[in-house]
Amino acid sequence: MELNPFSYAFHDDPYPTYRWLRAHAPVYRNDAIDFWALSRFEDVLAASLDHETYSSAKGTVLELDPAFVDQVPMIIFMDPPRQTRLRRLVSKAFTPARIATLEPLIRGIAVDLLERMAPARGGDFIADFAARLPIEVISTMIGVPPADREQIRQWSDEGLSRDADDAVMPRAALEANARLNQYFYALATEKRARPQADMISLLAHAGFTDDDGTLQQLSDIELTGFCSLLAAAGSETVTKLLGNAVVLLARHPAQRQRLVDDPGAIPNAVEECLRYWPPSQYQGRTLTRDVTLHGITMPRDARVILLTGAACRDERAFADADRFDIGREVSVQLALGHGAHKCLGAALARLESRVALEELHARIPAYAIDESQCTRVHMSNVHGFASVPMTW
Ligand code: HEM
Repeated sequence: MELNPFSYAFHDDPYPTYRWLRAHAPVYRNDAIDFWALSRFEDVLAASLDHETYSSAKGTVLELDPAFVDQVPMIIFMDPPRQTRLRRLVSKAFTPARIATLEPLIRGIAVDLLERMAPARGGDFIADFAARLPIEVISTMIGVPPADREQIRQWSDEGLSRDADDAVMPRAALEANARLNQYFYALATEKRARPQADMISLLAHAGFTDDDGTLQQLSDIELTGFCSLLAAAGSETVTKLLGNAVVLLARHPAQRQRLVDDPGAIPNAVEECLRYWPPSQYQGRTLTRDVTLHGITMPRDARVILLTGAACRDERAFADADRFDIGREVSVQLALGHGAHKCLGAALARLESRVALEELHARIPAYAIDESQCTRVHMSNVHGFASVPMTW
């Protein structure tokens, strides 16, 4: 059995491959693409917590070349202590209290999109809703003017897209990322000069005094890297989670009805959707030392992917792991990462998904999805739908 994260057929259904890997090759080696893969829950969790051995500094997806990783600094491609310093600065914009204040904004955007959709009795859930809600939310937070938001979404989409069976970043993806960076650099310099009530202005002026008394502040290029990261991380993944959720709930109408009758059960259902089909299927790392696991030694400098998608279905960690069950207790949520890089936007992702499902169920509780007409995105570690035709 071969694991090829660039195969379009693999994107359609990675789960048989994951099952085989967990059972027969928990430390898997792919010579052709030159990487190792860990697939069991305990191994993925332990590696996520050990950033000294499993470094992010050379990128977290297989196809990133070092020139791209070094173009603008992003916390996701750094190790502590550099990552800790920057994360501490940007965390100011993501405190639970600040995120909670966004609920009316999120609900307003969700209701507006759904009210435009509802009379048609049919449409594409991704294009009409799931792709639009998160980019509106994150753009409003960052301070991107409304007229530029669709362009930002397209650049981050293109920046993550990959060609079939090709383990390099396509030229179009590199160009889209460069444009995104140029855009945010211009916005950062402008907001530094003329601050407004938005995150980019807040972060441009945020700072803290470190242990040796030095004032730490974000440079324009650090601010650029953070905004570009947010534009992709803050929108693509939530779009995939929402698309995955409606397809899973349409497959399980009795479970969906439970959520319609009791919206209080939605947060737990969101956790199960994250576990069942994680929008981010693996986190890439590079080894800083030799590691021996299950009797196999992976050498220093080896590229290792931590297969979240496989670990979340590990029967060693979850009873009846292949069953979708919105009442299941997901005690450790791997789909949002762990350790130093644990998802900074986790509270926002959960809030957006809860509000989206509450408002969708209030207006369109019994939608139907023709899965034969759904299409998938082809991004190396992002898993989900590009299009979900829905009728009601
Ligand atoms: C369902 C939605 C989401 C999923 C599945 C998800 C998943 C993840 C995962 C797995 C990581 C860890 C990456 C690693 O270890 O290399 C991560 C990190 C991150 N996420 Fe999310 N994420 C989601 C939503 C968001 C949102 C809404 C935002 C921001 C608004 C966000 C911002 C970030 C950032 C900035 C990091 C990097 C943190 C660091 O390196 O310290 N994410 N996310």
